[in-house]
This record gives sequence, C-alpha cells and structure tokens, in this order.
Amino acid sequence: MSEKMGIGVIGSGEITMKATAPGIAASQHARLAVAMDTRPELAQDIAARYGARWTVSVDALLGDPEVEAVYIAVPHYLHRPLTVQALAAGKHVLVEKPIATTLADADAMIATAEQAGRVLSVAFEAQYDDRMVRLRELIAAGLIGRITGTRIVYRGDKAASYWTGGYTGRVQTDWRTRRETSGGGVLIMNTIHDLNTLRFLTGLEPVRVYAEYDNYATPVEVEDYIAVTIRYANGAIGTLEAGSALPGRDPAQPKDRIYGDRGQIVLGDPVTVYLREPFEALPAGEWLPLDLGTAALDRGPMIDKFVQAIREERQPLVTGLDGRNALAVALAAYRSGELHQPVELG
Ligand SMILES: NC(=O)c1ccc[n+]([C@@H]2O[C@H](COP(=O)([O-])OP(=O)(O)OC[C@H]3O[C@@H](n4cnc5c(N)ncnc54)[C@H](O)[C@@H]3O)[C@@H](O)[C@H]2O)c1
Repeated sequence: MSEKMGIGVIGSGEITMKATAPGIAASQHARLAVAMDTRPELAQDIAARYGARWTVSVDALLGDPEVEAVYIAVPHYLHRPLTVQALAAGKHVLVEKPIATTLADADAMIATAEQAGRVLSVAFEAQYDDRMVRLRELIAAGLIGRITGTRIVYRGDKAASYWTGGYTGRVQTDWRTRRETSGGGVLIMNTIHDLNTLRFLTGLEPVRVYAEYDNYATPVEVEDYIAVTIRYANGAIGTLEAGSALPGRDPAQPKDRIYGDRGQIVLGDPVTVYLREPFEALPAGEWLPLDLGTAALDRGPMIDKFVQAIREERQPLVTGLDGRNALAVALAAYRSGELHQPVELG
C-alpha cells in the first residue's frame, strides 16, 4: 500500500490519549498528522507524543492538505456539527460513540456523508474485532440454533471524579453530567457498545423496548441505573441492566449472553459456549471456550480497517447506520422510561 494516510484528531481528551492516538501510531496504514483541541495544552500534548502538528482551529485542521481523514472524540452533543463540518470539507470521518444524541443528528451526519461521497464510521469495536466477526459467522451457521434471547449486564461503580474528569482526570469538564451534552448516562455512554455488539452478532432487529431508569446515588442529571426489555422482530427477548453506581461493581464480572434453542454463548474472554447438540467439532453438554483467535491489543486494527475502506472506496465495517441503530434503541429506552410505556421502533 502507498504512503500512510494522514489523520487529524478533533478532541485530544481522555480516549484520544488512552486509546486512539496510540492506535493510530500502531497502525500500518495511518499516521497522526495534526492534533486539534480547543484546549491548546491537550492538542500540544498529543502532537508531542506522536511527532505531529497541533492547532486549536478546526478550520486549520480541515484545511490541512495532509489530513485525509478525521477522528472525532468530543462531548456527544458536538459529534454532529463537527462531523458534518469535516465531511463537508471533504474529509472521511471516524466518530466516537454514540454517533450523536438525537436521531435527527445521526440522519444529518449519514446524509452529509452520502452527499459528500465520504466514509463515515463509528468507533464501535465489534465489527472491527476479528473474533466477533468469526463468532457472527458461527452463529449464522447455526451454532446455538434459533436465537431466543440476549442479555446485557453492566455493573459499574464510577468514582465521583469520573463525572468531572473521566477515568483519568485529563480534562476537567461537566459534559458527562448533563442530558443535553451527553444524551444520557450509563446506557448511552457504556452499554450502547453492547447494543451494537449483539445486533452485529445476531442480526436481530429490536422492534419494541420498555425501560425504567432512575438516578439513585449520583449528583448528575443523567441516569445511574436502567433496566430495559427489548422485543426483537424474530420474537426473541432481550434484557439490559446497567448501573454506574453499584457498590462493589460485580466481582463475578457477568458478561453479555446470547441464548438459542440449541445453546448459550457467554461473551467473556474467552467466549464460552454450551451446546445441546454437537456443532462441527464441538461436543454437546459442557461449557467450552471457543477458539476465536486473540483480541487486538490496541486500536491499530480499527484504524487500519477504517483506512482500508476509504482506500477501497467501500462502506466501512461500522457504518453510520450501525451507529444510528444502536442510538435508536437507547433513545427509545429513554422515551419509554419517561412515558412508563413500551415504545415501538420505527
Ligand atoms: N473516556 C473513555 O474511556 C471513552 C471510551 C470510549 C469512547 N469514549 C468516547 O469518546 C468521546 C470523547 O470522550 P472523552 O472521554 O475523551 O472526553 P474528554 O472530555 O476527556 O475529551 C473531550 C475533548 O474534547 C475537547 N473539545 C470540546 N469541544 C471541542 C471542540 N469544539 N473542538 C475540539 N475539541 C473540543 C475537550 O477540550 C476535550 O479535550 C465521547 O464520545 C466518549 O463517549 C470515551
């Protein structure tokens, strides 16, 4: 492949520092060209770590000829305006999850990408993870038979400092605490990943959700506990339980599960499966680890696969629509919790 693609980052906060800038550095097909943030010291810090240039001006970043694609990691309510601006400037975009905080915003982002003929992807992990791609193939081939249920559990116990400084304290900010800027709490922040993962693995489409949520222990606007029931188009039922202030988290680390009429999958590391009937070389009647290969150690493969989609002029592995689909379930759950009624997905 030709020269490495120049990437510009918009937002040089926690996730850029922890995961994505190292991923760009580890990638084979990309390099960090310019780091941008409205806080100069953060842009400068990322640039210095990776030998890139830095700026506080989004126009300067988007006008930079070395920047062919942009990674956007800013507070959620800014995903739309910055993504639309970058796409309209002719850049390809990898935006953090959730794609946006409203479906209208997600639709505008997807439409702009189409009009501009540029790639729009969302930094969900499942589609970029070869192990999940293999598992999806096994499920489609009938590993656990007809899927009857899914289960998502997230039990967190976030420190008070998380709400104003994330996990690392790199950026002091209150965007996570407010509905308008974050879109919500633990559901849209954390388990939106799981909604995407289970949809990718099973292909099931949620048609109706019923949710109850509240805030019990955290002085913020958004929920710290939520329970959601999902009905899928094939008749299967999903449950989601997520908390960000559950004392002690969960020492057993419960993992997401997929139930079928012939088996059950636990999405741990390793992924394990219990089968009622043998499948290929896998015996029935005992819990078995699945050999799906090893997990990527960093975001290098995600960045490389994003760049390959751009170079090959095809859809990325995670599309804007994938981002919208996960968001639609989260927003329907919030609406349901407000109405105390089930909400149908359109
Ligand atoms: N922190 C994590 O562990 C984590 C993990 C996965 C995904 N994410 C996602 O990454 C995104 C960013 O989260 P974060 O934790 O890095 O937040 P953060 O608050 O640490 O960083 C956000 C950065 O955006 C900058 N910013 C604000 N407005 C800007 C603008 N107009 N132009 C450029 N920069 C601007 C801020 O100065 C800040 O440095 C969110 O979508 C979040 O859900 C975070």
